[in-house]
This record gives sequence, C-alpha cells and structure tokens, in this order.
Amino acid sequence: MSKTIAVTGGLGFIGSHTVVEMIKAGYTPIIIDDLSNSTLNVLDGIEKISGIRPVCYTLNILETTELEAILSTHRVEAVIHFAAFKAVGESVIKPLEYYHNNISGLISLLNAMKKTNVRNLVFSSSCTVYGQPKELPVNELSPMIKAESPYGNTKKIGEEILIDISKTGHKTILLRYFNPVGAHPSALIGELPLGIPNNLVPFITQTAAGWRNQLTVFGNDYKTPDGTCIRDYIHVVDLALAHVKAVEHLEKTELMYSAFNIGTGKGSTVLEVIEAFEETTGISLNYKIGKRRDGDIEKVWADSTKANTELGWKANLDLNQMMKDAWEWQCQLPTK
Ligand code: UFG
Repeated sequence: MSKTIAVTGGLGFIGSHTVVEMIKAGYTPIIIDDLSNSTLNVLDGIEKISGIRPVCYTLNILETTELEAILSTHRVEAVIHFAAFKAVGESVIKPLEYYHNNISGLISLLNAMKKTNVRNLVFSSSCTVYGQPKELPVNELSPMIKAESPYGNTKKIGEEILIDISKTGHKTILLRYFNPVGAHPSALIGELPLGIPNNLVPFITQTAAGWRNQLTVFGNDYKTPDGTCIRDYIHVVDLALAHVKAVEHLEKTELMYSAFNIGTGKGSTVLEVIEAFEETTGISLNYKIGKRRDGDIEKVWADSTKANTELGWKANLDLNQMMKDAWEWQCQLPTK
C-alpha cells in the first residue's frame, strides 16, 4: 500500500516539485495549501508530469481542527512542511505576520499531528541559520547565529521548537536549503513570479525576457575572486529529491531529530551565474554593477557530506542545467 504523506504548501515552488518526486517514488502525497503564494493551476502541471492529480485542500495551517480531520481521514504517515512566508525584506516590514504565519502555523500543525498521532515531520529550514560562517564550507555542526531578519528567525525558532518536541516522541528531519533555483525540465511547474523578484535567478530570467530593464549586481567589492557574493545554488528538482530521501530516512532512523545541509557543495559568484545563463541561452544579459544590498552575506556554500552518506542523497544537476530550466520556465509564462 502506498504511504500517504501530507505536504503543506504543496502548490508552492519547492512543494510542487517535491509532490512530483514523491509520486514518482510511489508515495501518495496530499496537498494542504492556502493559495497565499500559489494557484490551483499548479495541480495541472503536477498531473501532466506525474499522471496523477493529488488530493488538494485549500486550507491555512492555522486551522488546527480542519488539519486534524485531514490527517486522520487520510491516515497520514508523515508531513513535509513547506507552508511559510519566505521573503526576507518583507519580513522586516511585517514581522508580526511572519511570526504568526510561520511560528503559530508550525505550532498548529504540531498540535494537529499530536492529536492524530502523526509523528514524522520534514521541516524546511535554511542556510540562513548559519549567517556568515567563519569557516567554509559550512557543515551541520557550524555555529548558528542570531538571525538577520524576522524570516530567518522563524526558521531558527522553528528548529528550536522541533528539537524540544523531538524529546516527546516526535521525529523530525530539518533540511537546511541553500539557494534553490531552476524549474522542472518539462517547464510545467516552476516559481510563480509575484511582483518584482528579490532573488537573483528570477530577476535574470525576467530581465532576459524583457519584463525588467536591467539587473543590478549588488556589489563587486566583496572578498571573492570576482568581487561578487558567493552562494550554493541548487536545482529545485535535486532539492525535491532530498525530501523523498528524508521521508524514507524518517521511517528507519532511530534518531528523533537530525539536520542536513542540502546544497551542491559548490559556490558560484553572481557573475558566474550570469555567465552560465548567457552561455546556456545565448542571450546577452543587460546588467550593471550597483551598491551592496543590506543584509547580504559575502559567501556561503554547503558541506553536504552528511546528506550524501546518511540520506544517500546527492545533487546531480549543474548550474547550466539550472539556468536552462529556469529560462524554459520563464519562456512559457504568459507575458504579464
Ligand atoms: N543579487 C543581485 N541582484 C539581484 C538579486 C540578487 O546581485 O537583483 C545577488 C545577491 O546580492 C546575492 C545573490 O544574488 O549575492 C543571491 O541573492 P538571492 O536574493 O537570490 O538569495 P539570498 O542568498 O540572498 O537569499 C536566499 C533565499 C532566502 C534565504 C537565504 C539564505 O532567498 O530565503 O538564501 O542564505 F534565507
């Protein structure tokens, strides 16, 4: 019998790719999404790729009673929890909304899981919990620092809550994502752009598509080989596959709590990302060098050895593939 996994935020960018990979791996994902940053059309893309249209509930996870009903009706075995607000800058302006949605939402979900005796959870965390690490690459034992933004703090507090809950029979895997980019190679699902993108890759593709005039590279006076910031960009399909491995691992591990870095282990500068985009697509990108962006860290990339050895997961797709898939997704979006 196929195991049922509830995926909160399953219509979002990482959630939808994970639902596809869960179906491919033989699971039955059910989606719980409040459509705050997604649309029901995403279900069409999931169905076209996987041949299956998953059950989907339009629900905010703060609705604990309804959540409980869903978890028990479907005899859910584990939850993958994506549903959260994720814009760093917005979180500075609306901290209360971020704490309410991300922290109260997590507590509501944990209460519903407790009531229905669902004990396994995969939690979306972020490399933001490390800040600017003193030593690179960063591994899971590297010190965590005070978060720069309310968004980052919700990830850190979320992790702390889950560590405490793990002492009461609740099993958790924390996946600390580095920089997820790209889209499904079919171009049927990807990141839905809402307003002006904050993130580098959607800004690159929208500039190339003529939606934006010019990309600004935020600073070229950092202590890196070409002066621009370094990040560990990871293809969203590789990231989705990490969730499948995490669910499998939860079923067999005796550890009640573990954290894994999910990155490629390779850092790329902003200029290298632009170069990869230009090389893959043959498009010359209109960009200029601008001032540093407040709050940006200089460089970070992952040591994902723990995920390689314990989860049996490894990133396979390179920066060129990320750019190709991001571009193909952009090209099929309706123009504005
Ligand atoms: N950048 C530009 N121009 C842009 C946008 C970004 O030069 O228009 C640069 C940034 O300065 C940075 C790099 O591109 O050096 C990546 O920036 P992103 O905004 O794409 O990603 P961040 O690393 O800043 O943030 C991401 C996620 C956060 C998460 C964080 C963890 O968006 O949710 O990684 O480090 F918290």
